[in-house]
Amino acid sequence: MKIFLDTANLDSIRKYNDLGLVDGITTNPSLLAKEGGDVEDIMVEIVRTVKGPISLEVISTDFQGMIREGRTLSKYGKNVVVKVPMTPDGLKAVRALRSEQIRTNVTLIFSANQALLAAKAGSSYVSPFIGRLDDIGDIGMDVVKDIKTIFSNYDFECEILVASVRHPLHVIEAAKIGADIVTLPPDVLGKMMAHPLTDIGLARFLEDWKKTKSSTPKITVER
Ligand code: G3P
Repeated sequence: MKIFLDTANLDSIRKYNDLGLVDGITTNPSLLAKEGGDVEDIMVEIVRTVKGPISLEVISTDFQGMIREGRTLSKYGKNVVVKVPMTPDGLKAVRALRSEQIRTNVTLIFSANQALLAAKAGSSYVSPFIGRLDDIGDIGMDVVKDIKTIFSNYDFECEILVASVRHPLHVIEAAKIGADIVTLPPDVLGKMMAHPLTDIGLARFLEDWKKTKSSTPKITVER
């Protein structure tokens, strides 16, 4: 399963990218607004920093506007994926952009039917928003299960990009279902790495090592 970061924060992106853990990035207008500064500069820097797919979202809601913006965003780099909303004009834009070899990610997906239509339109990715469904008392992950079954039945090339992830359990559930990608807020990725027993275990090993009165191992003896 690929791991994307769901952020426009360049410090977080650099930190986790340097660890080799970032397969791609997803952004949206809210995430970019949170960073302040020139959003265009931020988007260009993200595209330069991470090699994998970078989803950049259009602001227009009409077909012509989406196409115009999609073409502009795609010029930022070969790894740009144009994020369009799940609307009739959005689906039309997916098809048109695909004919120009521009990849798309259909966002704001809340049902398996929406995902099916986005895949049929030719989107490279669908983004079901899990946390927001959980927020209103639905089980977001059930939608991911249904999408997975439908895409397998028909061999759609479209990848399932699980979004609106709120905690590490969402990641485990998505991985068990076989979702292609999860996009994570940086704090969720941090939480996935941490376990109190790891910290306790490491502290104990280091304490015990001191008892041996050795320094760190050196290759001084031929064996
Ligand atoms: O990429 C957008 C999506 O992940 C939104 O997440 O937490 O605002 O529902 P959230």
